[in-house]
Amino acid sequence: MMGPWVEKYRPQTLDDVVGQKHIIDRLKKYVDSESMPNLMFTGPAGVGKTTSALALVKSVLGENWRANFLELNASDARGIETVRTNIKNFCRLKPVGAPFRIIFLDEVDNMTKDAQHALRREMEMYTKTASFILSCNYSSKIIDPIQSRCAIFRFAPIKSEEIVDRLKSIAQSEGFDYEDNSIETIVKFAEGDMRKSVNMLQSAASQGEIITEDSVFGVVSKAKPQEIKKMIQSALQGNFIEARNILRSIMIEQGTSGEDMVNQIYSELSSRVSKGYMDGEVYMDLIGALAETDFRIREGANPRIQLEALLTKFL
Ligand SMILES: Nc1ncnc2c1ncn2[C@@H]1O[C@H](COP(=O)(O)OP(=O)(O)O)[C@@H](O)[C@H]1O
Ligand SMILES: [Mg+2]
Repeated sequence: MMGPWVEKYRPQTLDDVVGQKHIIDRLKKYVDSESMPNLMFTGPAGVGKTTSALALVKSVLGENWRANFLELNASDARGIETVRTNIKNFCRLKPVGAPFRIIFLDEVDNMTKDAQHALRREMEMYTKTASFILSCNYSSKIIDPIQSRCAIFRFAPIKSEEIVDRLKSIAQSEGFDYEDNSIETIVKFAEGDMRKSVNMLQSAASQGEIITEDSVFGVVSKAKPQEIKKMIQSALQGNFIEARNILRSIMIEQGTSGEDMVNQIYSELSSRVSKGYMDGEVYMDLIGALAETDFRIREGANPRIQLEALLTKFL
């Protein structure tokens, strides 16, 4: 099959972004006034933060946007020095054919506090030449001095009806028929995450001519739960290294977030205890440990290390 639909159907302009209407209206004012403070986009995954940032950059900077735009992805090295050097090199130059320059940093909540402090100093240093757009899942993980330098935009999960309409229009453009309940099922599982919805639609479509509810269930129940099951099984049998390898592959290769992992481990443990495959006492201990892991991840601890530590409790 051709490339990912999430990229093919990424809105290119602010007007094409689905939902988030009051945010989009505010962003358009920056385009009209050709000026922009530092912005922070917060909210859950897959609701249009990166998409809106790119669309805004293109309209506010005009046709020379590429030359005046620096994007630092979470996947890039983001130690303190890299952030500093990249930003310094970029800000040393004057804007060319655009009113100012823009730096976009994704997933700032995954930066260490030290790196955030370094970032804040760069933000202060270059207020005249550049504006920053920062995106994160939780603004609570961002240091106050950065928060207070930004206009904050809180992105909401996308409404069910809006996801339904979007998926139907994508299916139509791709020439796929669909059962109505297949789309409803996707929407139920996606919990307001448009990226997840579109990905599920494409996977379901790859199974046949028509997108059916069964093909959606096939996609939803596949891969991850099976692997989570295998990981837990290995750990319970005392094979830590194998469990840890599975953990790494799920998180790194498939990009599953710490929070998704916690939820899936929770489902798997609950299903074991309710089917009588796991002792009540053992379950209670493990849930206690899982709750602790969940809390630490939310507080900003490294999810992979926390989950690895959790696996040691299963042995
Ligand atoms: N509000 C939206 N309207 C239309 N498509 C969206 C929206 N939000 C997300 N998507 C789809 O999901 C993909 C990822 O969105 P992105 O903006 O990167 O999410 P995030 O909020 O995690 O930064 C986009 O390429 C697009 O296909
Ligand atoms: Mg993003």
